Amino acid sequence: MEEFIVTVDGPAGSGKSTIAKIVAAKYGLTYLDTGAMYRMIALYALENNVNLEDEKSVEAMLENTKLDIVGNKFFLNGKDVSEEIRTPEVSGIVSPVAAIKAVRVKLVELQREISKGKKTILDGRDIGTVVFPNAQVKIFLVASPEERARRRLNEYKEKGIEADFESVITSIKERDHIDSTRKESPLMKADDAVEIDSSVMTIEEVVQAISECIDRKVK
Ligand code: CDP
Repeated sequence: MEEFIVTVDGPAGSGKSTIAKIVAAKYGLTYLDTGAMYRMIALYALENNVNLEDEKSVEAMLENTKLDIVGNKFFLNGKDVSEEIRTPEVSGIVSPVAAIKAVRVKLVELQREISKGKKTILDGRDIGTVVFPNAQVKIFLVASPEERARRRLNEYKEKGIEADFESVITSIKERDHIDSTRKESPLMKADDAVEIDSSVMTIEEVVQAISECIDRKVK
């Protein structure tokens, strides 16, 4: 099978994973949530009090973390952590973890390995710029911070996680700032990515816009 890569990058809560899952089902693509991989490393760091300032501790952490993805389940050293990686605590530490070069090197390699030779849609921050600069279709999905915070708050509510709008929007803005200003693979739009602002679009409308980009490439 010929490799076909669709990348969806953008800030926290812009709807990347919701949209990527639907597009994956529609076109028979494998979906890879790269943010979940950074979240697994962040969870390990949190649970093991890893000193992120210390290179040796980070190295040891990377040696001691085995990540497996089976369908939509995420396993850290054999344990299903699909729920734990979505908590506000993990969201609070994931951006500093993802800014570490050694962490990115390991995860980018894994992302390329998983997608090699396949038809895949990946979402993240640096997929169209760094992981797959030659991807066939590149999307940059954005939305206003207020709308993104509302969506994240709803997700928390559905899961029974307590949170308030102010703390969620503050966390999102903090994460945006760290992700966009870090030295290693900062969040930015690839020159050849199509930007879609989902603030006032329905899910169907965003899926339609991305479908048009894919259809143009496939034809
Ligand atoms: O779902 P949400 O938009 O909250 O974020 P995520 O996609 O789960 O990603 C969590 C964090 O991982 C981001 O804030 C980034 O710091 C980092 N990340 C990254 O650096 N590179 C990626 N390709 C994906 C995520």
